[in-house]
Order: sequence, then structure tokens, then C-alpha cells
Amino acid sequence: MPVISTRVLTLPVALLMLLFLSCKHEPFEIVTPDPIPGDTTGETGITCNPDTVYFQNEVLPLLISGCGMSGCHDAASAQDGVILTSYQAIITTGEIVAGNPGRSELYEKITEADAEDRMPPPPMAALTTDQILLIRKWIEQGAKNNYCDAACDTNNFAFSTAIQPLINKNCVGCHNATLASGGIRLDSYTAVKAQADNGYLLGTISHQNGFAAMPQGGAKFSDCQITQVRKWIAAGSPDN
Ligand code: HEC
Repeated sequence: MPVISTRVLTLPVALLMLLFLSCKHEPFEIVTPDPIPGDTTGETGITCNPDTVYFQNEVLPLLISGCGMSGCHDAASAQDGVILTSYQAIITTGEIVAGNPGRSELYEKITEADAEDRMPPPPMAALTTDQILLIRKWIEQGAKNNYCDAACDTNNFAFSTAIQPLINKNCVGCHNATLASGGIRLDSYTAVKAQADNGYLLGTISHQNGFAAMPQGGAKFSDCQITQVRKWIAAGSPDN
């Protein structure tokens, strides 16, 4: 007898719980999401959250070197009225609709299937899938003007893990086979080594007298990043 009554009770309880659970889940799809964890609009001293895309750290360097070069979308050239070298200009002239990449003009342009309309235009290469996804995620997360204090270790100065990622992000868009600004390429180990050997790499990033300040139009590298480059050069600029 006691066995049966327990069973009789268990079924309705289980059904009730299912109902409760399914009801509880539904609102999550329609409710506005909570503020993005790690959103740092207007704040400093924030540790980077790997799930968040940071405008100042990642999106701005990419747009400056990939689109904001002289003759294209820097403030002086402003092709089609589009300027992609500062947050305000990117939001307004890139017609960014926060939360909606599909309705954002800039996102449409970088994903345009027709090469004639695509940006950057041929013969320049399209942005890579990773770069496009980065911009997409940034817009989806609210297109914030956010910044985080990226971990930087002066003891890590290997070419593959420190130097090349830094140069790819901040320099290669203006210094590649198609667009070799100032006659300089930085899109391979050999090319970077040449600029390390002749003193121009360190001279430009540390804004020394007699060198053009690089990255052009972008923020100066942090002391830690400059130290990484300096140490790599002092070690003979190895391909490590
Ligand atoms: C937005 C485009 C752009 C970006 C990004 C950029 N450069 Fe340049 N760079 C140029 C242009 C244009 C020139 C040639 C005109 C000049 O000297 O100002 C140049 C020139 C140089 C020169 C020759 C400098 C000289 O004094 O003659 C070096 C070296 C260089 N860049 C390195 C870099 C490095 C390293 C980075 C990344 C940290 C970088 N550039 C990022 C546009 C860019």
C-alpha cells in the first residue's frame, strides 16, 4: 500500500516540475539581456573578459589599419563620407545599429558578396572570417566604446606569440603586398625582420625623432608592448 501511494504522487509531481521548468525557460528568449559582463564603457582598470569584444583593444586597431588608411577612410580622405578612425565617427558614418549587425551599413559592406561593392575593395583582400566575426560580435554586444587592460608580459617576446600578433593587428592592414605604405611590408617574418634590423620597427613604434610615428592614426603601443619588441630585437629578432 505505501508503495503505490508514493508512485501515484510521484507522477504528478514530476509533471508539475516539467511544466515549471519549461515555463521558466521561455522568458529568457524574449527578455532583454542583462548588461554585458565586462562592459567597460567609460571605465579603466578592467581585466579583459574573453567573452567580450573590446572596441579600443580589438575593433579600432582593425578598422584603422584595414580601412582608415590615407586615401580611404581616414578623416582627411573620408571616401563616401565614411571615417573609420574613431569611435564616434565609426558609429555615425559607419551607420552602426547597436545590437543589429544585419542593419549596420559597415557590417553589410564587409560581408558584401559582390566584390565590386565589398570593403575593403579589390585588389585589397576582404577581411578574414575571424575579423568579420569580431566586428559582428562587437555590434551584437551593443557596439560599446569599451576597453580592457589586456595582460601583457614583458617576458613573453617570442615572434609567434607576442610580436607577430601585435603587428598583424596594428600594422599589416597598411603594410602588405597590395598596400605597402611607405614602401614597407610587415606581412611576413622576413619583412618584419628587415624593419627590425634597420631600426625602423623600434624607431616608429616608440615615436623616436626622425621616424614617422606608428601605428599611423592609432594609439601608441603600451610601454610593455614596446619592451616586448625591444627585447625581441635585442635577442636577434629570431623566428621563434
Ligand atoms: C593606417 C595606416 C597605417 C598603419 C596602421 C601603420 N602604418 Fe606604417 N606607414 C603608413 C604610411 C602611410 C607610411 C608612409 C608615410 C609616412 O612615413 O608617414 C608608413 C610608414 C611606415 C614606416 C617607415 C617610417 C619612416 O619613418 O620612414 C614604418 C617602419 C612603418 N610604417 C611601420 C609601421 C608599424 C610597425 C605599424 C604598426 C605598429 C604601422 N606602420 C602601422 C601607414 C600605416
